Amino acid sequence: MLITFEGIDGCGKTTQIELLAVYLIELGKDVLTLREPGGTEFSEKIRDLLLHSKDVLTYQSELFLFEAARVDLVAKVIKPALTEGKTVILDRFYDSTTAYQGFGRGIDLSIVKRMNELAVEGLKPNITFFLDIPLDVSYQRSNHRQPDKIERAGDEFFKRVIEGYRKIANDEPERIVSIDGSLEKQKINEKIKEIIKKSPGKF
Ligand code: TYD
Repeated sequence: MLITFEGIDGCGKTTQIELLAVYLIELGKDVLTLREPGGTEFSEKIRDLLLHSKDVLTYQSELFLFEAARVDLVAKVIKPALTEGKTVILDRFYDSTTAYQGFGRGIDLSIVKRMNELAVEGLKPNITFFLDIPLDVSYQRSNHRQPDKIERAGDEFFKRVIEGYRKIANDEPERIVSIDGSLEKQKINEKIKEIIKKSPGKF
C-alpha cells in the first residue's frame, strides 16, 4: 500500500503524515514513512544539492536530479517495502515534479510525464492526499523559517504550482483526494481517516 501526500509548502503534509502513521500503526499496519527527495543516502545528498547548494541549476538539471533521487528511493526502498507488505507513506512523489517542474518551471508536461514514468517503472500510489492551500496561507505558515532554493522562486511560480496541482487532482479523481488544507489539523485528520475507512478494498 502506497499513500502519498502533496501540496505546496506549509500545507500541513508533515503533521498529517505523522497523524496518519499513528492511526495506521494502531490498526496494526507495518508503516514506513519517507520523504522525497530523500530516503536513501544517495537521495539525501541530491536533496542537499537541490535545496541548499550555491550552484545555480538549470530547470532541466533540477528535473534530472529530482528524478535521480526518485529512482534510488523507489528501487532500493519503496518497492522492496511494498513487496514485504508494508504501508508506505510518502511525503511528495511524482505529482510534485509535474506541479513544480512542469507547471511551475514550465518544462513540457509530456517530457515530465515520461521522466516520471522512467523513474517509477509502473509504481502508482493507491491514494494521494492533496492538501490545497492558497498562497497567503503558505506564506503565513512558512514565515518562521528560511526558504529553500525552490521556495525562493516567487509568487507567480507558486500560483502556477497551485493551479497545476488542482489540474492534476481534477484529472485523476479516482486516485487523488483534495482536502482544504486551511482547515484545523484534527479536522483534516478525521477526513483522511474517513476516506481510509471507506476504502476497504485498498486498505
Ligand atoms: P519538502 O521536503 O516538502 O520541503 P519542505 O519540508 O521544506 O516543505 O520538499 C522540498 C522542496 O522540493 C519543495 O520546495 C518542493 C520541491 N520539489 C520539487 O520541486 N519537485 C519534486 O519533484 C519534489 C519531490 C520536490
